[in-house]
Amino acid sequence: KRLAVFVSGGGSNFKAIHEATKQGLVHGDITVLVTDKPGCGGAEYARDNQIPVVIFPGSKSSPDGVSAAELVATLRKFEVDFLLLAGYLKLIPIELVQAFRRSILNIHPSLLPAFGGKGFYGLKVHEAVIGSGARYSGPTVHFVDEQYDTGRILAQRVVPVLTDDTAEQLAARVLSQEHQVYVEVVTALCEDRIVWRDDGVPLIRSRD
Ligand code: GRF
Repeated sequence: KRLAVFVSGGGSNFKAIHEATKQGLVHGDITVLVTDKPGCGGAEYARDNQIPVVIFPGSKSSPDGVSAAELVATLRKFEVDFLLLAGYLKLIPIELVQAFRRSILNIHPSLLPAFGGKGFYGLKVHEAVIGSGARYSGPTVHFVDEQYDTGRILAQRVVPVLTDDTAEQLAARVLSQEHQVYVEVVTALCEDRIVWRDDGVPLIRSRD
């Protein structure tokens, strides 16, 4: 399968997935990296690894990037099967959601539907989890629809929230699980092991 990854930041999930493709664990190739931040760590890593970088500024019109319609055309040109959001902070425009239905995934650092939606990003998520008194947190991989963090949930992992945790400590504990669960999900995706239940819930089938 051919994968596009979207990043705005350091890109540790992107790196984990890229490593897994190189090791042959994931039967797919990252053929293009899309970013709204051309100078971010993820974009740098892509350039270092000869992965083409496409700049998509999102809502703001910028002379440097492509429009939503051009991005759809570019992704088609790269014959991309799946879009993987990995720390991409902009809302995905409707043109993309419609062009790639059931083919866009995101990872979010809380157990959705809790602590999701606009405004819940980065350390803010973990601060809110700690502030709520929740005893558990963990990443969610979900399909992307027209809004932030509301698409169908595909996979989750649970980590404890420890007494005296700082947001940074909790973020690090969740992030290490993010890398594992995202790689597992993308492995399944590339092996056509995602099935859709009649009520619209996606499930991961185990290998036969
Ligand atoms: C992760 O916590 C992810 O859940 C969130 O943004 C962060 C990205 O981290 N959407 P990285 O850029 O993959 O290191």
